[in-house]
Amino acid sequence: MIDVSYLLGEDRRILVTGGAGFIGGAVIRRLLKDTDSIVFNLDKISYASDLYGIKSVVKDLGESGTKRYHFLQVDLADSEATINALNQADPDLILHLAAESHVDRSIDAPEAFLNSNIIGTFNLLQAARLHWGSLSMKRQEAFRFHHISTDEVFGSLGDQGRFCEKTAYDPRSPYSATKASSDHLVSAWHHTYGLPVVITNCSNNFGPWQFPEKLIPVVILKAISCQPIPLYGDGLNIRDWLYVEDHVDALLLAATKGNPGEKYCIGGNNERTNRQVVEVICSLLDDIKPLPKPYSNLIKLVPDRPGHDQRYAINADLISNQLAWTPSYNFESAIKLTLIWYLENLDWCKKVQYRSGYKGQRLGHS
Ligand code: NAD
Ligand code: DAU
Repeated sequence: MIDVSYLLGEDRRILVTGGAGFIGGAVIRRLLKDTDSIVFNLDKISYASDLYGIKSVVKDLGESGTKRYHFLQVDLADSEATINALNQADPDLILHLAAESHVDRSIDAPEAFLNSNIIGTFNLLQAARLHWGSLSMKRQEAFRFHHISTDEVFGSLGDQGRFCEKTAYDPRSPYSATKASSDHLVSAWHHTYGLPVVITNCSNNFGPWQFPEKLIPVVILKAISCQPIPLYGDGLNIRDWLYVEDHVDALLLAATKGNPGEKYCIGGNNERTNRQVVEVICSLLDDIKPLPKPYSNLIKLVPDRPGHDQRYAINADLISNQLAWTPSYNFESAIKLTLIWYLENLDWCKKVQYRSGYKGQRLGHS
């Protein structure tokens, strides 16, 4: 992990949207632990949200934690509430992560994705423009709006090539189409209104506190309860995996050192088929929690995700060369850390599953 303390000036006010989610939570915990910034967490609190990890960091920090962390329960689809939240936070930096994020849910119920990812981003941009225009010249110059996006906006790769900043957009799921729309809105607000924005497009993240509907936590929870481990299609789709703390490093570098108007692609250079990912987890479990038979016997091929993108891979040369970002974790050690975290936090998994009403059932395929 990089030392982020030098990246942010003292008392810098930072608004993180989607901070009750997986990646936003990791960003906020890092800001609270490793900087002196004042952090505002704007989140509507959805099925995927949980504040437990942040609350324990705030508690450990004592008085400084309670002074420096503020939660704003706001739905970005509500334009007036969004403007009020920005007035209250008065930010120098906005890290915009709030979004509906699960492809399978976007197949079942796309409307929520349009409301949060497109309308929500539009409302935030409008509020940010108002706020930015009201700042002193010095604060205006330092202000950044950092939009956190995904590699899925670029579509699906064949066997060769990797996505980079110049790749044409070709989103293919309701989720990625709404993220692509939000990227275009952010870019338009830069070109038309001069808002100082940075956009990052990252590959698949994994790590602690990820809501158990995404591949890695699903596999862990199914395996340890000896249920079939669902592998979509032939299991040969490829993702480029990045440990969440490496993504946080990249985000804080891009937000503070990135050029206004610039886009950065972020990825782990860790391409794996889904079958390889599942098999790594199974073999780690064979060592840590052995059963009479190997866990891989639980793997079950299930009908494919409609419109399933075949392969994602990122060329992260720009952020590496320009901002000196490089991932610190390798896939094998980070997946082990993640597995151990889930094994030690099964109560948290049960709690968030119970509260959300999601019991591990197949999504995105009726
Ligand atoms: P997540 O689903 O874990 O969390 C998203 C959070 O956003 C939730 O707490 C939710 O309540 C909040 N939110 C959603 N709509 C909102 C609204 N209208 N108003 C206020 N809050 C709202 O998501 P994540 O995996 O942490 O992803 C965060 C961001 O990073 C997303 O924008 C996603 O597109 C992007 N991203 C994710 C990955 C990944 O692998 N998870 C990779 C690249 C980019
Ligand atoms: O690439 C970045 C994207 O990564 C982010 O923008 C998204 O927010 C994030 O959810 C993730 O999208 P994916 O669709 O790639 O992630 P998911 O964990 O849902 O699936 C990863 C792969 O595993 C995908 O090819 C589908 C497959 N899969 C998924 C689940 C949940 C299975 O084979 N079985 C499963 O049970």
